Amino acid sequence: MSGAIQVRGLSRTFHTTVRRPGFAGALRSLVAPERVAKHAVSDITFDVDSGELLALLGPNGAGKSTTIKMLTGILTPSSGEARVAGVVPYQDRERNARNIGAVFGQRTQLWWDLPVRESFTILRDIYEVPKAEHSARLAEFDDLLALSSFWDTRVRHLSLGQRVRCDLAAALLHDPPVVFLDEPTIGMDVVVKEQVREFLRYQVEQRGRTVLLTTHDMTEVERLAERVVLVNHGRLVLDGTLDEIRRKFGSTWQVRATLTDPHTEVVALPGIAVVRREGARVVFGPDGSAAPTVHQALKSVIERYEVTDIALDEADLEDVMRAAYIQAEAV
Ligand SMILES: Nc1ncnc2c1ncn2[C@@H]1O[C@H](COP(=O)(O)OP(=O)(O)OP(=O)(O)O)[C@@H](O)[C@H]1O
Ligand SMILES: [Mg+2]
Repeated sequence: MSGAIQVRGLSRTFHTTVRRPGFAGALRSLVAPERVAKHAVSDITFDVDSGELLALLGPNGAGKSTTIKMLTGILTPSSGEARVAGVVPYQDRERNARNIGAVFGQRTQLWWDLPVRESFTILRDIYEVPKAEHSARLAEFDDLLALSSFWDTRVRHLSLGQRVRCDLAAALLHDPPVVFLDEPTIGMDVVVKEQVREFLRYQVEQRGRTVLLTTHDMTEVERLAERVVLVNHGRLVLDGTLDEIRRKFGSTWQVRATLTDPHTEVVALPGIAVVRREGARVVFGPDGSAAPTVHQALKSVIERYEVTDIALDEADLEDVMRAAYIQAEAV
């Protein structure tokens, strides 16, 4: 095994009882409850290298949070194994807690009724961080996340974006090498989002932290992640770089050309179809066979035709991921 986070055949099944509809159903459920098994995470295997930021993606209910809960030691797997910085998180929660920071965007880890700064002090004492080090780190976080304008406010009175920024700082106060972020930029405005992304980039590139992040924001993935793991219905369906995923699912580009001579005969090129033609203006797109990349297509068109103008539309990552989700659904 190698890597700061190692996940091998990890699975988690939840057993729940379902209530049958209607009065008679309710009675029957009471006498003989019907138990159903939900395979939230099934046989997932992946690694995250030290100093790498990996985005764990997938539609709602795919099993992302359940995976993170097992890696943070909150949940025990039904089968399989995981190690985080060498520790089995669900067997040695305390040791794991010293190595990791975790932010669940949906739920705060801070004390609801205390001013944020007091929460920070409590965390300092729990993790036994020396005072000087603590102050220096807080100053650094304030610099990057602008916390001091609201860190004397009670957590319950903070806006969502302010609260998650405080949660981020709290998660990193003890300088953990591995960080889990489950939807860390949920509810943030565009300016704050960018600030947080900058902060995360700094944590990875300058501080060498390993980050596992989930998000539904594809701009975030584009800005932060090089590698992506895609899960669906609890199963890992894809593990690759953004480039690989674009190549595999991003074949929705268009090349729009204006021909020098509007009477030129235009034919399909290998892998490239003529989508539309109006006089001198021709739109090319992938023909559904072996899809060339948008840049290969651009080259082919320029080599074949004399054009006065050419432009390309690349599928954005959201389209690419939608195609990946749809394909994952089909298998
Ligand atoms: N404690 C639980 N008991 C029963 N089922 C659960 C429990 N926790 C999660 N599940 C189910 O497991 C599946 C995976 O849930 P999970 O929260 O991991 O999804 P997710 O990928 O984080 O989704 P989202 O993008 O909506 O946050 C869902 O079908 C969910 O209903
Ligand atoms: Mg989730």
